Amino acid sequence: MARLANWLRLVTLSVAVAVSAAASFPVAAGVDLPRLEKGRGDKCVEETQNMRRNHMEYLKHQRDETLRKGIRTTRHSLKKCVECHASEKSGSVAASKEDFCSACHSYAGIKLDCWDCHATKPGKKAMPMAGQGGNTHNTSPLMATAQPGDRK
Ligand code: HEC
Ligand code: HEC
Ligand code: HEC
Repeated sequence: MARLANWLRLVTLSVAVAVSAAASFPVAAGVDLPRLEKGRGDKCVEETQNMRRNHMEYLKHQRDETLRKGIRTTRHSLKKCVECHASEKSGSVAASKEDFCSACHSYAGIKLDCWDCHATKPGKKAMPMAGQGGNTHNTSPLMATAQPGDRK
């Protein structure tokens, strides 16, 4: 029994290591990144290296500010990311594997649920339930089935 427990602990540990290794893979120094289309304008909303590493934190922070406190600033807005990073070819940040957001993520084995609700193309309204208050991040199944046509 003790041996089984040890073995399980070992398995859990190596899975955790494998997952974090995969996630930090493209950000790690010396590893080739997938080819990315350059964003519009001449710079990002934060310094490029910083964005590579911390964009998810900015987005989550921005989301929490908006949903919990109703604060809507644009600097780290997801809508803005899409405006600057949508592909010339597909017009989207995540329609094909080469598109900006999915290029890195599919490389790193990460799948976002953001696009269930948020538009991947500039100027598209993808959230008919937005603005009704409450934390809609908790009602994913409802939102997702309400808007099947707006995905991709
Ligand atoms: C279940 C649907 C749903 C999912 C899934 C979802 N969001 Fe949202 N999100 C919303 C709604 C609704 C708002 C509120 C929009 C408003 O009131 O302006 C919002 C607002 C935001 C905002 C602030 C407004 C903006 O454009 O910047 C950010 C940032 C954000 N979400 C990021 C994310 C990220 C990142 C993910 C994926 C990790 C995600 N969201 C997944 C529904 C969703
Ligand atoms: C005003 C246009 C603009 C906005 C808004 C913008 N970006 Fe950028 N982004 C750029 C440009 C231009 C670059 C390339 C900068 C460079 O080459 O140094 C870039 C670079 C990046 C990179 C690094 C890419 C690489 O080559 O490794 C990431 C990641 C990124 N942006 C994510 C985001 C996210 C997430 C958002 C929204 C929170 C966002 N960007 C908003 C223009 C923008
Ligand atoms: C330079 C590569 C790269 C680009 C470009 C990139 N990401 Fe990421 N993203 C990552 C990596 C790597 C992670 C996972 C980091 C981790 O888990 O520590 C990640 C994680 C995230 C997360 C958190 C996922 C979660 O489940 O916690 C969000 C949200 C996110 N990215 C949004 C975006 C958006 C939106 C874009 C396009 C505007 C984008 N990213 C472009 C590399 C990138």
